[in-house]
Amino acid sequence: MADAPRILVLHGPNLNTLGTREPGVYGTTTLDEINARLAERAKARGADVEFFQSNHEGSLVDRIQEAPTWADAILINPGGLTHTSVSLRDALAATGLPVVEVHLSNVFARESFRHHSYVSPIALGLVAGFGPASYLLGLDALLDHLGG
Ligand code: DQA
Repeated sequence: MADAPRILVLHGPNLNTLGTREPGVYGTTTLDEINARLAERAKARGADVEFFQSNHEGSLVDRIQEAPTWADAILINPGGLTHTSVSLRDALAATGLPVVEVHLSNVFARESFRHHSYVSPIALGLVAGFGPASYLLGLDALLDHLGG
């Protein structure tokens, strides 16, 4: 693609507390540090990234609905909404944009309620279990997909 690819990076509920939240599960890297790593990787690959975190399902849906006006793809860690939210999935599907789902933890190695994702069936792919690197792998996959 001729212009710099534009990626919307979304973080769902409770991800604002990374760094102190259950460090045995999620590590000690903060969300700001993850965003900084993503911004650095995006810059190196000539892409633009915009970040948004919310603890509110509707706020995330609002952002997703706006995405087709400016973004080429969505990278999302939906947090707990992964396992509960039809609305989030519907909003993502309606954009028609490529979506990559990421998780810090390996959700399939955890409680059974985390084994189902409403997002995975409409996603291009899923990266889980690599801590903050899940986000970087997901970004690289999206940019590769976009041809960047
Ligand atoms: C998570 C996994 C979810 O099950 C959990 O509710 C989260 C974080 C992860 O990144 O590993 O909030 O999405």
